[in-house]
Amino acid sequence: MGAPNGPLFEDCVFVFILSRTLPRSLAEESKSIVEENGGEVIPFDEDFDLPEITHIISDTVDFPQYSEARLQLKPVVTVTWITASLNKNKEASIRPFTPDPSMIFANVTITCEGLPTGDKDAIIGAVLAMGGMETSSLTKMTTHICALTVDGQKCQQAIGKRLKCKIVLPHWFDDCMKLGKRIDERPYILPDPEIFRSDPSDPIPMPSTDILSGASSSRPGALPMPTDSPIRKLTVFNNKIVTISGDLDISSRLRKVLEDLIVGGGGFVSKTVHESDMFVCHWREGREYVLASRMGLDVGNLSWLYHLIANNEWISPMRKLLHYPLPKNGIPGFKDFRITLSNYGGEARIYLENLVTAAGAEFTKSMKQDNTHLITARKSSEKCDAAMEWNIEMVNHLWIEESYAKCEVQNLTDPRYTHFPPRTNLGEIIGQTQFDRALLERKYFPRDPTPSPGDPKLVRRNIMREKDRNAPSSRRTDSDADMEDQDEEIRPKADLNKALSRKKSRPSFGQQVSTPASRRISGLSGGKENDTPSTGSRSAKDKANSRIHAAAPDIALYEKEKKRKGGVWGGERAASRIEKEKTLERSSSPANKHDEDDEDLSEDETRTPKRHKSGLPPVQIRLLTTGYKGWLGNLAKEEMDKKKLRDIGILVTTNPVTCTHVAAPAMVRTQKFLCALASGPTILTSDFIDTCIAKGKVPPEKDFLLQDQQNERKFGVKLKDAIGRAKANKRSLLRRVPIYCTADITNGPDTYKDIINANGGSFAIYTGRPFVKKTSPEEDDGPAEPVYLLSGQKPSEKLLWPKFTEMAKEGNMTPRIVDSEWLLDVALSQQNKWNQSYLAERKKG
Ligand SMILES: *[C@@H]1O[C@H](CO)[C@@H](O)[C@H](O)[C@H]1NC(C)=O
Ligand SMILES: *[C@@H]1O[C@H](CO)[C@@H](O)[C@H](O)[C@H]1NC(C)=O
Ligand SMILES: *[C@@H]1O[C@H](CO)[C@@H](O)[C@H](O)[C@H]1NC(C)=O
Ligand SMILES: *[C@@H]1O[C@H](CO)[C@@H](O)[C@H](O)[C@H]1NC(C)=O
Repeated sequence: MGAPNGPLFEDCVFVFILSRTLPRSLAEESKSIVEENGGEVIPFDEDFDLPEITHIISDTVDFPQYSEARLQLKPVVTVTWITASLNKNKEASIRPFTPDPSMIFANVTITCEGLPTGDKDAIIGAVLAMGGMETSSLTKMTTHICALTVDGQKCQQAIGKRLKCKIVLPHWFDDCMKLGKRIDERPYILPDPEIFRSDPSDPIPMPSTDILSGASSSRPGALPMPTDSPIRKLTVFNNKIVTISGDLDISSRLRKVLEDLIVGGGGFVSKTVHESDMFVCHWREGREYVLASRMGLDVGNLSWLYHLIANNEWISPMRKLLHYPLPKNGIPGFKDFRITLSNYGGEARIYLENLVTAAGAEFTKSMKQDNTHLITARKSSEKCDAAMEWNIEMVNHLWIEESYAKCEVQNLTDPRYTHFPPRTNLGEIIGQTQFDRALLERKYFPRDPTPSPGDPKLVRRNIMREKDRNAPSSRRTDSDADMEDQDEEIRPKADLNKALSRKKSRPSFGQQVSTPASRRISGLSGGKENDTPSTGSRSAKDKANSRIHAAAPDIALYEKEKKRKGGVWGGERAASRIEKEKTLERSSSPANKHDEDDEDLSEDETRTPKRHKSGLPPVQIRLLTTGYKGWLGNLAKEEMDKKKLRDIGILVTTNPVTCTHVAAPAMVRTQKFLCALASGPTILTSDFIDTCIAKGKVPPEKDFLLQDQQNERKFGVKLKDAIGRAKANKRSLLRRVPIYCTADITNGPDTYKDIINANGGSFAIYTGRPFVKKTSPEEDDGPAEPVYLLSGQKPSEKLLWPKFTEMAKEGNMTPRIVDSEWLLDVALSQQNKWNQSYLAERKKG
């Protein structure tokens, strides 16, 4: 993500994966485009390290680093993404450009209308898991409205405005999911969908093969991917018994789609958790959840199930935070937070939005003063500037990830959460936090509970479980015991029994992870186990589990390499690469990170000169102008002049927070001047602008420093001193100073609000209502601190004075009802001065 005005691909490091459809010639072409726009490209035949690159350009997912790239939410996009970004002059969204054929909803932006909540969540979950996006309302971007009828408001709007988006039945999503392919929506389009016309009595749509063969014969191009068989073969559920919880609140139709997928992939569906391997539920509570968790099943939510289906690859539900069931009332403490995001894009953004909501906080798209937290990947954006002004907590995503993983609000002062390496977008280390099973166990399914009186069964099972553990037998024992009194419905029964007896031979529940991957690793890893770094005080079992999971991508990589004959990677090279990646992973783990980079955070990274292979020169001066006459009423000249200035490295800005220079005809006490002054800029005369434009280059600044002795005398301030103090104050001259303002003040409260905010003060309009009670510990002791009310002499304002005085005293504060002169003096001198003559009561009104 480049700085707002830098070249488009500034800070981006690309790697191209060459393939049949992305040959060297095409890559070379794109490489020069990327480089022209400030990006860096790793030489084509060179090794690359995932942490160092920001974008992977590929036409295929068949490259060794793909699964790890996905886990780290690194964008993997087709080469067309580059041109699409250039067309928009900003980074295009990632999802529509994925080369991953399993992302069947890549081009879909869906909005739902009139569906039952459970179904709605499920469909949105599927669309997100398979590359699409969702919007809560109908927008330009919306490609599909999912509805059961066209009666709803969104549908009517779409029809009325002749929008291009398609109105489809939920069945379309179900069928696509079932196929793992995107089929033509036409038979599903409302108001008169073909699928209902053809067989209205059947509540479940026609067998998917029929729809498909129909579609493929009449429209051969309808399938997005050429494959051997239109129906993909799921293997991830092979011999697995899955229980889908009732708490998912999904329709029987969708439930059947999912069950068919599981059974079709060689798995089994059971109504009870006792003999299951996987339990899919929504909430992190309830008897079944607790039972399943204690028994060591893999417990995940629908998103996890979708992930398994979409990727046909096993992954622990604890590996990704959003794959684990939700805590019903959020994470304690998050309820009152209003959280917004900055500098995260694409997948990372969607993921963080969901995480904020899952934690129980409120997510807001834009930032207002009542936001409590800003989660940002870099320390530079308008939101960051405003957060500093408004005293909104600013942290990186590790804070929310770790708070969610540890089920507890983490301390904001932890340096890992407030560290922003200057040249890094922290989006690159997103999604790496995982759950710790032991911790979840303590909080949500403690082992030795005081038996709840209403649940004798549970108690019995626990006792048996304890015995079990030492016995050589498997989970089978008590499953058997319980089976008689279960009203389960399992399909097909005979095979299930086979599966259960097969299970007998596998290790006891303590090491129940028996996925294909884990079986493979046990043969492969041999003596290497000690290489994996330990992660704290977890049980040996959990360590073993996480080791297996951590190794899974490595194994996949290894196996892939083995298959390649004389290709880019030889077996040996791949093996050493695995080692290398492991080392890197270790060195980039958060625990190590915060020792390494303890840089000065106050440095404004947007000002650092950057790579600039072409295009505009880096911005050296961010110039704010005030009172400049040259552009008055001449917009065309203004535009042209600004371009000329930009060509010589001067960016004209209106943002007083980021400006480095101010050009003004005199030392004035205007809002703009005072706000900018708080940033401690260099202050020049307006002639500087004219000279730059006339000469086409930047003259020495020292020849244009603003000299204004007349006003310096008038205001009793030396400009040079004020700037010096501003630099030291770092925009927090008024930090923690409460300043109220009457609503009727001359010039309006907003003028003063901006000046107060620019200096880090807290502003509010005083209406006579009680003060917001401060709870910050610093304010609880020590002498009474002043609280200010800016007021003119209007009767409506004076009316408020007695009340204000009374309330301030009640709150153990010193009331100071002052003329706006006080604020202007303080802001101009950058000194917190006090003099009785500022008191409004003393003025003769
Ligand atoms: C997405 O849409 C674009 C343009 O409509 C199309 O070229 C592209 O093939 C589509 N991609 C997928 C995965 O459907
Ligand atoms: C799964 O859980 C996460 C939070 O842990 C939540 O954001 C997500 O929406 C859930 N998925 C579905 C499909 O309900
Ligand atoms: C957070 O950390 C700071 C500094 O380490 C410490 O002073 C403070 O007490 C901690 N707060 C909590 C709630 O743990
Ligand atoms: C307070 O302000 C008045 C008028 O501006 C000035 O005459 C006086 O000297 C000031 N007093 C102090 C202590 O600065």
